[in-house]
Amino acid sequence: MEDVIENKTNLLDILNCIGIKIEAICGAKGKCGKCKVIIENPNAANQITFQEKKILSKEEIDSGIRLSCLVRPLEDISIIIPDSSLQKEQRILCEGISRKIDIEPLIKKNKIKISKPMLGGEDSFFNYINKELKSELKIDYNTLIKMNDAINYEVLETNLIIFKDEIIDLLKDEDKIYGISVDIGTTTVVVYLIDLETGAQIDVESILNPQMKYGEDVISRITYSLEKGVSDLHHSIIGGINLMIKKLCDRNHIDINSIYEMTAVGNTAMHHIFLNIIPKSLSVSPFTPVISKGLDIKARDLNIKINSSGNVHVLPIISGFVGADTLGVLLATGLYKKDEISLAIDIGTNGELVLGNKDKMVSCSCAAGPALEGGHLNFGMRASSGAIESIFIEKNSLDSFYKTINNSSPRGICGSGVIDLVAEMLRVGILDNSGKIIENGNERIRKNISNNQKEFVVEWKQKTDIGKDIVVTASDIREIQLAKGAIMTGVNILLEKLDIKVNDIDNLYLAGAFGNYIDVNNAIKIGLIPDIPLEKIKSVGNAAGEGAKISLLSRKMRCEEDIIIKKIDYIELASEKNFNAEFINSLKFP
Ligand code: FES
Repeated sequence: MEDVIENKTNLLDILNCIGIKIEAICGAKGKCGKCKVIIENPNAANQITFQEKKILSKEEIDSGIRLSCLVRPLEDISIIIPDSSLQKEQRILCEGISRKIDIEPLIKKNKIKISKPMLGGEDSFFNYINKELKSELKIDYNTLIKMNDAINYEVLETNLIIFKDEIIDLLKDEDKIYGISVDIGTTTVVVYLIDLETGAQIDVESILNPQMKYGEDVISRITYSLEKGVSDLHHSIIGGINLMIKKLCDRNHIDINSIYEMTAVGNTAMHHIFLNIIPKSLSVSPFTPVISKGLDIKARDLNIKINSSGNVHVLPIISGFVGADTLGVLLATGLYKKDEISLAIDIGTNGELVLGNKDKMVSCSCAAGPALEGGHLNFGMRASSGAIESIFIEKNSLDSFYKTINNSSPRGICGSGVIDLVAEMLRVGILDNSGKIIENGNERIRKNISNNQKEFVVEWKQKTDIGKDIVVTASDIREIQLAKGAIMTGVNILLEKLDIKVNDIDNLYLAGAFGNYIDVNNAIKIGLIPDIPLEKIKSVGNAAGEGAKISLLSRKMRCEEDIIIKKIDYIELASEKNFNAEFINSLKFP
């Protein structure tokens, strides 16, 4: 361990290495200011950097606060880690809507009797199997070498496990067979364990994406991979998935070797990194992915710890910015099969949209930025303990009544809370539709002397867990306007492409954690989603994960995946001639 630590260049890396998880949204670039620590013996570290002086206030610097990603210990160092810098357990959404499908996985189990070999006969057991099945199956090498052990010679029987045209296992006994589906999100990873014979979900496991230490958003991770190679990121996601598979198997007393297939969805950057492909081409225009079609790869080639001859199916991606997770949403909602017009919105750091029906679909990606997930806001945070998730403002006193995750003392505001907050500020008249905070003499609205910005005090420091007032500032409001403006610009341009109006939308599917936890009324009030009747709006939960399960269990849907993505026209918003006008228009609150 000491050798490993010695090779680390900054304090943030060292803390990570010993298992102390620190918030690091910008990926150790010294930009987000989330990785603060207090150094008790300042001479034991390098001098405070110019970048830290830009990010930290004078009071923070005077009290010994540094950004751990920019601290280089020179000798034994004594530090205090403020609670606000520690990563808290994130609420992870695992379930989504489920669609009725016929259970017919691509992995098949087939019990066969083999004809008795004759002395002097020229055939092999492998040929007997193919004759019995009237087929021309291939055989995986690892399976071939165990063939002699897997045939019950007394009754001349064996159980074949077949994937497409290949025998991938031979079993003496009729054991149960399993599959797993994985949703690789930028922030969270969810693994589902599925019984391949009944289609039942046996268990589920989730973690924060272990790549978080290399940056919390896609851009930071792409940047990391360009600077230091993709290997660290690739191994950390493979390791995280393997750890979850092991936990699921241990908990359910299942042998890892009885898992024969894994299906995986993720955005395009997560897809490339999972495959150990450097996402270089995703960092420059025209953001072309290395491959978009669906892939089948031996589990052993990716070091995924299921049966080594098992298959890993990676669903196809739509474009450089619209990934296999969006295809998962389409499979789960059935949008691509319907006559009615549907709009699917999956909001994360990027908003991915698909609009259309069985005849035509258009899609785009909107650079919403992290504001709607609580990022880039002065008191924004992920959906973890102590995050304000919903809020009401009393009109006369401007006192706020709110609910926090786990009912803990407030530490900040997460995405759903941010939407409520803006909607409430508009409702009580302390925010106008241009995004200006309106002073009305109430002490909760004030000008911050250090940055000269107007701000609204959501909660006074005496009642918070961080010893500071939790406020929303004018610049926070601007971030939210940019995010919601980006989404609505995408919606409006897609509507134009299909030459239809908002009222023509029959179904609006809100996918992902964001869509699950927001107050839909408030999202309409701030102009984040189109103003359509509530009965047309459905939160579909982790539809990407549901899509991965469908792909695991339905041969028919698996075959449709590459056909569906060919039917989708990807629209690059920035190259649309009315993009700027639409964007400026969409910044206003309704
Ligand atoms: S400032 Fe250190 S991780 Fe962002």
